[in-house]
Amino acid sequence: MAPSSTSVLLILLLSVVPASLASTPVSDGLELELGGDGLYREILRDETVLRLKELGKISDGEGFLERTFLSPASFRATDVIISWMKDAGLTTWVDQMGNIHGRFEPSNSTDKALLIGSHMDTVIDAGMYDGALGIICAISALKVLRVTGKLQRLTRPVEVIAFSDEEGVRFQTTFLGSAAVAGILPESILQVSDKSLYVAFNFSSGTTVQEVLRLNSFEASADALGQVKYSPESVGSYVEVHLEQGPVLEALRYPLGVVKGIAGQTRLKVIVDGSQGHAGTVPMKLRRDPMVAAAELVVTLEGLCKDPSRFLTYDEECGCFTEESLAGLVCTVGELLTWPSASNVIPGQVNFTVDIRAMDDLVRETIVASFSRIVMQRCDHRLVDCAVEHKLSRELHAFF
Ligand SMILES: *[C@@H]1O[C@H](CO)[C@@H](O)[C@H](O)[C@H]1NC(C)=O
Ligand SMILES: *[C@@H]1O[C@H](CO)[C@@H](O)[C@H](O)[C@H]1NC(C)=O
Ligand SMILES: *[C@@H]1O[C@H](CO)[C@@H](O)[C@H](O)[C@H]1NC(C)=O
Repeated sequence: MAPSSTSVLLILLLSVVPASLASTPVSDGLELELGGDGLYREILRDETVLRLKELGKISDGEGFLERTFLSPASFRATDVIISWMKDAGLTTWVDQMGNIHGRFEPSNSTDKALLIGSHMDTVIDAGMYDGALGIICAISALKVLRVTGKLQRLTRPVEVIAFSDEEGVRFQTTFLGSAAVAGILPESILQVSDKSLYVAFNFSSGTTVQEVLRLNSFEASADALGQVKYSPESVGSYVEVHLEQGPVLEALRYPLGVVKGIAGQTRLKVIVDGSQGHAGTVPMKLRRDPMVAAAELVVTLEGLCKDPSRFLTYDEECGCFTEESLAGLVCTVGELLTWPSASNVIPGQVNFTVDIRAMDDLVRETIVASFSRIVMQRCDHRLVDCAVEHKLSRELHAFF
């Protein structure tokens, strides 16, 4: 994302400040010096970009960005983030799951807090904006309030949180940090162990979450985990700035979008059984080839999702499918396994995964049902045996 987009995002954050405060004239002349037009470019653009680059260099890998849950680099990043939070006038602490908090608490406030944040961990070979943007933007926005004297006049607590784990790279389980704050992290998580992936960094393989926490002086008990939880009554709202993880805004040349919800998702596994045979001796007419059946199904799925209105009837009266509800539909086959997977053998079995997401649960369910029906028809036609297993089904989570 271009630096110019960053400042637009920051303005959005500043807009959470009550209008009466935001428009109050500042007496100390800083406004004039820092941004007479209210943009505070030195902080919101220049320093923010510098900090993104600085955090993007704090890595466990050489020549690429990798910063996983409680890794050596994550602790170096923690120190830097804490110093930025202090610079913004916030009171800081690290909780028992390694999340970093920076809070401004108005005296006598009984209001619920506004939380702003994102994740500080990364995937392997990550981009420097993922997660970091949401943390640094929040800190920069609050720094402007401090510098202009507006922070002290807030009537509501504001807190920036840098979550220790979102990606789940190290323990193959996502959201360790935010799930703990939400109070939905099960105690059993302490016994989950990491994979041999980390031998390179001298994290012995098979280390549990509990061991890793203890090694880094956290308490790592069920009690300690419980203390990380924020009661819903203490939190008014949560805002997260995140870069778009797709090409749409960029293609439309929009600097900013607002997330309307988290798409519903269905994951299927399709098992196609045919007759294994010799590539040289079984004539085409006598084959029951699960590979070509699978290929046909993959292409059919693409057609179903690329042009759903051809398959789904849109009834204007019932308003079942609007163009908008169909627009977010995406379907993917990301994994395909064949047996025995040899160049001179007609496979005996092909398995593949299907991932279907939509911003409308009815659309998604209809696509799942249509696809399952098509699987049976095509498989009958090709004389192969097919089964569709439902692996996951998650409903749409709409924010508005
Ligand atoms: C906080 O409340 C106390 C007791 O009600 C009061 O004396 C004090 O002036 C209040 N402080 C602020 C900053 O409002
Ligand atoms: C790796 O761990 C072992 C055992 O804990 C320790 O003795 C050794 O110094 C460590 N090596 C590095 C490079 O950190
Ligand atoms: C396909 O899935 C079935 C059922 O899970 C499994 O037993 C089989 O080994 C899989 N086949 C391949 C080629 O992965």
